Amino acid sequence: MISAERIPNNVGLSSNKRLQRALEHWQPKYIQWWKDMGPQGFQDYHQVYVRTAVSVDPSGWAHFEYVKLPEYRWGIFLADPVHDRRIGFGDFMGNPVWQEVPGEFRNQLRRLVVTQGDTEPASVEQQRWLGQRCPSLYDLRNLFQVNVEEGRHLWAMVYLLHSYFGRDGRDEAEELLERQSGNRDKPRILDAFNEPIENWLDFFMFTMFTDRDGKSQLLSLSESSLDPLSRTTRFMLTEEAHHMFVGETGIARILERTCQLMKQAGFSGDVRALGGIDLDTLQKFINLWFSLSLDLHGNEVSTNAASYFANGLKGRAYEDKWDDHRVTEAMYELEMLAEGKLERRHIPMRTAMNEVLRDWYVGDCLAGVTRWNKILERHGFSDRLRLPDRKFNRGIGMYSSVHFDPHGHQLSDAEWTRRKHEWLPAPEDREYLLSIQAEPVYEPGKFANYIAPPQRGVKGQPVNFEYVRTEL
Ligand SMILES: [Fe+2]
Ligand SMILES: [Fe+2]
Repeated sequence: MISAERIPNNVGLSSNKRLQRALEHWQPKYIQWWKDMGPQGFQDYHQVYVRTAVSVDPSGWAHFEYVKLPEYRWGIFLADPVHDRRIGFGDFMGNPVWQEVPGEFRNQLRRLVVTQGDTEPASVEQQRWLGQRCPSLYDLRNLFQVNVEEGRHLWAMVYLLHSYFGRDGRDEAEELLERQSGNRDKPRILDAFNEPIENWLDFFMFTMFTDRDGKSQLLSLSESSLDPLSRTTRFMLTEEAHHMFVGETGIARILERTCQLMKQAGFSGDVRALGGIDLDTLQKFINLWFSLSLDLHGNEVSTNAASYFANGLKGRAYEDKWDDHRVTEAMYELEMLAEGKLERRHIPMRTAMNEVLRDWYVGDCLAGVTRWNKILERHGFSDRLRLPDRKFNRGIGMYSSVHFDPHGHQLSDAEWTRRKHEWLPAPEDREYLLSIQAEPVYEPGKFANYIAPPQRGVKGQPVNFEYVRTEL
């Protein structure tokens, strides 16, 4: 038996017997999954200083305490309802939002919820070995904070499946625990979530770029006409902000340290000889995770995206900032690849909704890279990090049939094969990163040589606070 109090929630769980029974059935499988596929080596006696969502009150929604990870209180929270909320875009604009799933959109909505839900446990699986080579207790704690919240995001999607999608929803909830990141027979749905995350540079780039795709998707789902979906995703965005903070500041701290080591090595010196991460390597990992995360936004031209918009299932990021919410006439200018040649064409904006969301995403990433470059500037270096062209290294969409370099110049297959490791991590780069991350740093206040300490600790605690208690 699980008691509703063990599951912090604002959905009246204790008075909803049907939902409580469904979750009672699902929860033990979730815990088993967490133990098998969650952080390896940290399921037992380690105590982690994490926040737990206990309400949706903006002034104090989280409670900080030490917990053992499997005992984390994964909860279910919906942002407060908006009085008389109306559909904000598409063909049903102005109608009241839906509190139940309309039969005609049931399959589409289920697919959206399942696809979002699948990414949450996938990232926990991808990151499960990182604790063994963490650069500090502060970073270890941040990793686990992200992990438990991705677990909570799975709960959020499972809540929707159990509450609004009947038997099919219950089956989908089971399958979310059965697929596994990188598993050959039962992989996760989206490619970027099957890539291994074996080192901390991958992790910080993932939380910078792939969690930001999460933000794109959550922003567009939070516009949804299905009100419970909108309210669920709106609260998830609150947590997502911290995940991107972990990624952006993680890279910023590596970059800070790289600048120090560049000065130490002399301007033409080798940062790797001093155990740091050189700018070329940072750039390669940006290229990799940015391009993988662009793919997550789907095809440039998409009838699915058009119908999600028309039916009011998925809006644009910050839909209210647009003037035209029906988008029946508007066109979108896209660089199209036709018979191997690029040309600019106008297509109906509804069919370009993935690209519209990708535009928002690229802008948000660019702002982050600009903040990183301030660090190089402050240290007096003229080098800059940049985002590759959005046609670079694509696996999905029309640009995936041809190769491009990071400046967007087309390449032959042979040239791509010959040069790709100038732009993407090579096996030697990965070996090097593992070599400097071979030993975990578990001493409070100590940091691995390749990363600077953060400017401040978590929730007013000092940087040298014991964020994870590692002794028995
Ligand atoms: Fe998430
Ligand atoms: Fe996240």
